Amino acid sequence: MRLSARHILSVNDLTKKDVTLILQTAASFREISERPIKKVPTLRGRTVINCFFEDSTRTRLSFELAEKRLSADSTNISKSGSAMAKKGETLLDTVRNLEAMRPDILVIRHNQAGAAAQVARETSAHVINAGDGMHEHPTQALLDLMTINEAKGRTKGLKVGIVGDILHSRVARSDMLLFRKMGMEVTIGGPPTLIPMCLAETFDVKVCHDIREALPKLDVLMLLRVQRERQGEQLFPSSREYARYFGIQSRDLESAKDDLVVMHPGPVNRGVEISAELADGPRSIILNQVTNGVAVRMAILYLLLGEGLKQ
Ligand code: CP
Repeated sequence: MRLSARHILSVNDLTKKDVTLILQTAASFREISERPIKKVPTLRGRTVINCFFEDSTRTRLSFELAEKRLSADSTNISKSGSAMAKKGETLLDTVRNLEAMRPDILVIRHNQAGAAAQVARETSAHVINAGDGMHEHPTQALLDLMTINEAKGRTKGLKVGIVGDILHSRVARSDMLLFRKMGMEVTIGGPPTLIPMCLAETFDVKVCHDIREALPKLDVLMLLRVQRERQGEQLFPSSREYARYFGIQSRDLESAKDDLVVMHPGPVNRGVEISAELADGPRSIILNQVTNGVAVRMAILYLLLGEGLKQ
């Protein structure tokens, strides 16, 4: 079976059937990472170039491991050390040169919204958006969905709260699109300056600036980092103020359901949006998200290259 889309640039490229297929395939691949020899020959002879023009720990490493565990030939390019850094080569010229080396898949992270779509117009390879500016991060949303499904045994009808810097968060955008597509209810919280005005209508979500009011009904709480690097101006007084009014710690969850789970896409700023004891505590499934990131990316690479579920 193949995915209906040639590229994964946005959650909107995926049908519900695609999402289900990716999650099923990821579940079947998850076990490979638990083996002593973590490698299958599935993508032998296929070439993947990971183009990380913006910093990353989880996404870059999990794509690299996914490619290696499926035996693809993978290589990496980053901004520093490439001809883009000091010689003035443009993104499009860089991509045209990569294209000339005949990759099968290009994985793109870039600080400009729309960069992955721009690359997709210039290449015959499949393109996966690994995060483009403030736009989207679709593979993160898929691994978040897989982690929720694993923790709760279902996704439809679940109530999810997403709290933090929604304005600058590509994870929030992709999560809202995917969670709504899969029949979940989404409530957004955080400082009014970090929540766009038209969000509720655009994404069909609820807005509750103080998430503590919505907490008793939530099944999942997703906390997001404040993205200082994307803020042109000061949108709240200080990290201390943010932690006081919007940061969540274990004692804030006294009114929550016993089985509420806490998630975070990383990197975590302990003591700002989430306390250390909550991040490391029994409700936290943050590291499960990281583990599932490898499986989801293995599934996407495999399904884009059209080999179906048989191994
Ligand atoms: N979740 C996420 O995108 O993390 P990285 O920036 O480390 O890839």
